[in-house]
Amino acid sequence: MTVADERSMPGVGSVPFAMTNPLRVPRERYYDREFFELEKAKLWPKVWQMACRLEELPEPGDFVEYEVADESILLVRQEDGSIKAFHNACRHRAVQLGKGSGRMPKGQIVCPFHGWRWNLDGSSSFVYGKEGFEPDCVKAENLQLPEVQVDTWGACVWINMDPDARPLAETLAPVAPLLEAIGFQNMRVWWWKEIIIRCNWKTAQEAFHEAWHVMRTHPQLTSGAGEDYPADYVEYTTFAGGHARFQGKFDATAGGVAEGRGAEGFLERSELLWEGQDAMTLKRDIDVFMGMRNKVAPGEDFPTAAIKALFEYWEGAGIPVPAMNEGMRLWGGEVFIFPNFFVLPQYGNALCYRIRPHEDDPERCRFEVWSLTTYPEGHEPGRARLMGRFEPDDTENLGQIPRQDFRNMEKQQRGLRSRGFKEMMLATEWESPISNMHIELDRYLAD
Ligand code: FES
Ligand SMILES: [Fe+2]
Repeated sequence: MTVADERSMPGVGSVPFAMTNPLRVPRERYYDREFFELEKAKLWPKVWQMACRLEELPEPGDFVEYEVADESILLVRQEDGSIKAFHNACRHRAVQLGKGSGRMPKGQIVCPFHGWRWNLDGSSSFVYGKEGFEPDCVKAENLQLPEVQVDTWGACVWINMDPDARPLAETLAPVAPLLEAIGFQNMRVWWWKEIIIRCNWKTAQEAFHEAWHVMRTHPQLTSGAGEDYPADYVEYTTFAGGHARFQGKFDATAGGVAEGRGAEGFLERSELLWEGQDAMTLKRDIDVFMGMRNKVAPGEDFPTAAIKALFEYWEGAGIPVPAMNEGMRLWGGEVFIFPNFFVLPQYGNALCYRIRPHEDDPERCRFEVWSLTTYPEGHEPGRARLMGRFEPDDTENLGQIPRQDFRNMEKQQRGLRSRGFKEMMLATEWESPISNMHIELDRYLAD
């Protein structure tokens, strides 16, 4: 079994709608207010979260606001290049000091209400009407902006609101080397979009915890097998075959880069990924693959030859993808970092997802998608910018594959509300990452 059945279940006494059976997920976990409040109190303030891409903060004074449920954190690039994170509330009367993203004018964080100011490191630099306050109110320590733990990994900035949280490096230790082996840290933003979906954040992310749904949701990816399920069996056995688990906090699934496919099958699938989402496989890769079309003898393994050509192209173009190594097994697979971050790497590119509650609503989430790629050294793009917030069915701005996934989510959330439905039943094999995620969640909630 790949489900986390051999591990002890967390102490769930105090958790409503707890996971008492690893294969059953109570429906209330996806909409119940009490459960959502518990996540707000015990998950989000305690866990390391990907707060922004490093490219969003290229210069001193650049800031990004990271919101999760009703918390807001301000990330600020410092003069010395480091990054600090602050709780986003003025020490005077709580007004938020930064919204969205941008640059702090003249290296000062300025409150829009009464104009109090701070240096980029959160120390007070000006108090308007200081003489009107009791001396204790305007002491340096009472004016200093309270900090949040911050660290960087994988070209991303991570935050943790818990001052006693163990270091990020320790938290990521099992999973970081896997992604570093394929050069995840060298990837930069190709595009970045956001979708607000009318479902719980877990409903949305669980669509990416298994590839078993491909047969029905993305029939075009199953080599034309459509609804012929037995023919698709290979697809999901391949996917789940390389599944590794790290104490429930991470899941990594090996993909296997279509070894043994003929040229046409390989090219067709690559093009579907490119056209369907402009991520994981990009036009640049297709061009290299196409160039190999008449160079590989029939009977020779086309994918292997095409991928070798891609490595040669990268080397020639100064594109820093590490030499072929064990990490290649991850291509076409998926890495999940608890609680809400995914990396799906392929060919020096990756698709990333981050899913969070939207505002204070258990039944809406903010779903972000990054398509990453590796640029030639010295030609990395500048500041990464969100292309926009789109509707889940936007045919102009979203590819076919994500639209197919989004289509299920709202329906699933509605189904979870049905009084005829009590709990999800998970497959022991294909759906184990969902089980792992919920059990890990209960560890936080029960703490
Ligand atoms: S609320 Fe910020 S200066 Fe008054
Ligand atoms: Fe999907």
